[in-house]
Amino acid sequence: RTRDRYPVRRLPFAEVSEEDLAFFERVLPGRVCTDARELEVVNVDWLKMVRGCSQVLLKPRTTEEVSRILRYCSERNLAVNPQGGNTGMVGGSVPVFDEIVLSTALMDRVISFDAVSGILVCQAGCVLEQLSRYVEERDFVMPLDLGAKGSCHIGGNVATNAGGLRLLRYGSLRGTVLGLEAVLADGLVLDCLTSLRKDNTGYDLKQLFIGSEGTLGVITAISILCPRKPKAVNLAFLGCASFAEVLKTFSTCKGMLGEILSAYEFMDDRCMQLVESHLRLSNPVKENPFYVLIETSGSDARHDEEKLNNFLEQVMSSGLVTDGTVATDNTKIKMLWALRERITEALSCDGYVYKYDISLPVEKLYDIVIDIRSRLGQSAKSVVGYGHLGDGNLHLNVTAEAYSASLLNAIEPYVYEWTARHQGSISAEHGLGFKKKDFIGYSKAPEAVVLMQRLKAMLDPKGILNPYKTLPASPELAGL
Ligand code: FAD
Ligand code: MLT
Ligand code: ZN
Repeated sequence: RTRDRYPVRRLPFAEVSEEDLAFFERVLPGRVCTDARELEVVNVDWLKMVRGCSQVLLKPRTTEEVSRILRYCSERNLAVNPQGGNTGMVGGSVPVFDEIVLSTALMDRVISFDAVSGILVCQAGCVLEQLSRYVEERDFVMPLDLGAKGSCHIGGNVATNAGGLRLLRYGSLRGTVLGLEAVLADGLVLDCLTSLRKDNTGYDLKQLFIGSEGTLGVITAISILCPRKPKAVNLAFLGCASFAEVLKTFSTCKGMLGEILSAYEFMDDRCMQLVESHLRLSNPVKENPFYVLIETSGSDARHDEEKLNNFLEQVMSSGLVTDGTVATDNTKIKMLWALRERITEALSCDGYVYKYDISLPVEKLYDIVIDIRSRLGQSAKSVVGYGHLGDGNLHLNVTAEAYSASLLNAIEPYVYEWTARHQGSISAEHGLGFKKKDFIGYSKAPEAVVLMQRLKAMLDPKGILNPYKTLPASPELAGL
């Protein structure tokens, strides 16, 4: 099914033999899985849209084991699919054919935490939520947060350069990841696991691996800078009558909340209907065409509350916001965040999901949703817009009862052309993976794509690491 939708031919990699299994078993005693039920889980992605047929799942615990496996796979010409929590949105985390799945699930050790600098060093398979808990107990927070926190691994986050709900405040992983260790396709261990804030000695190689989606190396450990845990967190969930009001509220909020603003997320009314009907969550405010979620984080509760109240008074009295609710206690904060974080889940309950993750100039952010809605008419079940407005990142999603080639053709490449016309990015934070690799040309110049292909060929000459992902097979297929 996957291969009908995304035509691709298996490359001439070797097939896993009994001798290969015996070698893996020697390196990873008891951690070589060929059980059909366990393999079913790692062969299919979170959205249940891309399915491979791998026969082997490997679970290393150490960098040395990863190195031995990759050296062997490289010599044997066996393809390998690195996998973290398997929550990726673009089909990058699962095999396309019979690639060996190399999971970081057992690489979940915290190596060190410096309580003065807030620098955490850990293995790649640590689950984000567990790391959050670990650093919060020490009065720090992780610089990233996302709806998939309960399953995604920090290595997967770094491999996808995940954005998420805190990027507005703490910036991208390209800034907060201080160092990393990666194993290259031939087994070479690249130790860039420094913990320095400043280090201008040569090229910054770690940046190559951040966002490389498992195509250049397997990330085995990372060093990441954690901010202090804010003493006061406030959340406001507000309703707006139009998108113009959402934008004006954002502008007002940047001016009035400035340094304590830590998230500005938005969702449209259709998203609200979906979380209400599929997940039984309830809308805490009056029905509105748009909702925004504003989080403040600071060090002085009274000061922050006063600021937030002044802001709310301003946006309510000027009519930018029609209704709202505020939370300071943890339970209500979690309840309000769930309305936004669980949209992904609600969409999956709605039907087959066509998922787009684009960066656009913020004033244009919702135009494409309106355009696509009228373009698709009755052929779509839901056309929704939500996302990280504060970062200029829209999640445009279309659902339908089932997959349809004609609906897909009505959306693609139209969405990509629209985005390119407005100088946007066709993948703001999810990456290209398997589903979007051939569209890279809408956001990157041909010369840039060729250079990426050369880098890939240099680091992984046999192309065994996550084949069929991220880059088109040749420059001619770059999408334009
Ligand atoms: P996987 O899905 O297992 O893998 C993702 C990619 O990284 C694959 O290409 C894989 O080969 C590669 N990879 C994984 N581990 C390694 C490694 N150790 N070394 C090298 N390559 C590796 N993304 C956002 O950016 N922002 C969000 O707000 C956000 N919210 C989400 C909410 C939900 C409910 C879900 C399901 C997903 C969300 N995502 C979001 C998608 C996001 O990409 C992933 O959640 C996360 O970053 C992937 O981590 P993972 O461990 O699950 O990686
Ligand atoms: C989100 O922001 O909710 C995630 O990126 C997942 C999605 O796009 O659905
Ligand atoms: Zn997102």
